[in-house]
Amino acid sequence: MSRPSRKIVVLGSTGSIGTSTLDVAAASDGRLQVIGLSANRSCQQLLEQARRVRPRWVAVTDGDSGRRFDWSELPEETQLLLGPEGIERMAAEDEVDVVVASIVGSAGLAGAWAAVQAGKTLALANKETLVMAGPLVMREAAARGATILPVDSEHSAVFQAMQAGRREELKRIILTASGGPFRERTHQELERVTIEEALAHPTWNMGEKITIDSATMMNKALEIIEARWLFDLQPEQIEVVVHPQSVVHSLVEFSDGAVVAQLGPPDMKLPIQYALSYPERWDGPATRLDFRRAFSLDFFPPDEERFPALGLGHEVARRGGTAGAVLNAANEAAVAGFLHGRIRFTDVVPACRAVLDEHNYDPSPTLQQLLGLDAWARKEMTKWMGV
Ligand SMILES: NC(=O)c1ccc[n+]([C@@H]2O[C@H](COP(=O)([O-])OP(=O)(O)OC[C@H]3O[C@@H](n4cnc5c(N)ncnc54)[C@H](OP(=O)(O)O)[C@@H]3O)[C@@H](O)[C@H]2O)c1
Repeated sequence: MSRPSRKIVVLGSTGSIGTSTLDVAAASDGRLQVIGLSANRSCQQLLEQARRVRPRWVAVTDGDSGRRFDWSELPEETQLLLGPEGIERMAAEDEVDVVVASIVGSAGLAGAWAAVQAGKTLALANKETLVMAGPLVMREAAARGATILPVDSEHSAVFQAMQAGRREELKRIILTASGGPFRERTHQELERVTIEEALAHPTWNMGEKITIDSATMMNKALEIIEARWLFDLQPEQIEVVVHPQSVVHSLVEFSDGAVVAQLGPPDMKLPIQYALSYPERWDGPATRLDFRRAFSLDFFPPDEERFPALGLGHEVARRGGTAGAVLNAANEAAVAGFLHGRIRFTDVVPACRAVLDEHNYDPSPTLQQLLGLDAWARKEMTKWMGV
């Protein structure tokens, strides 16, 4: 008897997570059928993906790029959607089972929100969704019967490890951080870091924005906030440990002191596949640990003085309200500023702190308010950078 396949839409299919998701689907032996793809501007890559996957829809968010491109080779059965509405339309279509949210940055919120409103299963890579609007998204998911499954490797590890005990037995979680390329640099050395050095991550191969976030450790700050809302934890229950090998993807401690971890090589295909196969586990294309070779695992406490982003992450997780959306937007603008040579590496976190301190805090904002603050924080950051 043939089993029904899960029909998935991949938002941000041309990115690092998006292409790995297509690899997972291709290796799924028909269990996953990709029926929607999206890109912002990478039309050529999107066309190539569409010719391989033959989806129902492809969406190009940047309508101008989409209109200028020659789509004559698009498969006949594939409909082209231009503009940001395409994302929301695909995410809400009846026949879609799972929406993979793998757009980068706050641009990912709209598609994730549409999927939640439509009561879909959301495989969430876009951590910015929960950083910006965690309480609203979680409340909406509960009201609409949507399920949110983590793709972020740390949160996937916590989610997997949590299954070893009951929810009320969970004491704390420990998120692992590779420490990025500058783990051992002094503050003076960090001031001179170049863009190329910051983009060379020692263990993970990812998109540019998250690679810079890993180097500043803002990525871990965002993950603390993401974990707070996704797992409904108190910020004090979320700790960070530096683990340079990126093999232990995170840990959960239970009330009796038992610590349960999830391990694997640094390869996003496993957490992506788990979010798509859940509650089952399937054979898959992720690389595997080889215990016939000697290897060691190290753990260090993080240095919050050299990496002040971590303190900021805990603070924003505690404050909630508008703080996450402001931090997220300020950080996106600061990372873009660093990548364009406008600010130094060590300016990113203080600049985010300055914008956060400047904003009119509201403990229970609406989605509209958060989107307005997203735009406000970007403008403030532009002022801070003096451009
Ligand atoms: N990479 C990882 O290993 C990893 C691990 C954990 C979590 N994540 C999270 O997953 C998300 C994606 O990361 P990534 O590394 O895969 O990013 P990426 O490689 O930069 O890919 C980003 C994707 O989003 C699309 N996109 C960019 N701006 C957009 C916009 N304004 N509107 C609509 N689509 C837009 C891009 O389209 P174009 O190609 O047309 O630009 C591309 O498909 C991020 O939230 C990141 O934090 C990533």
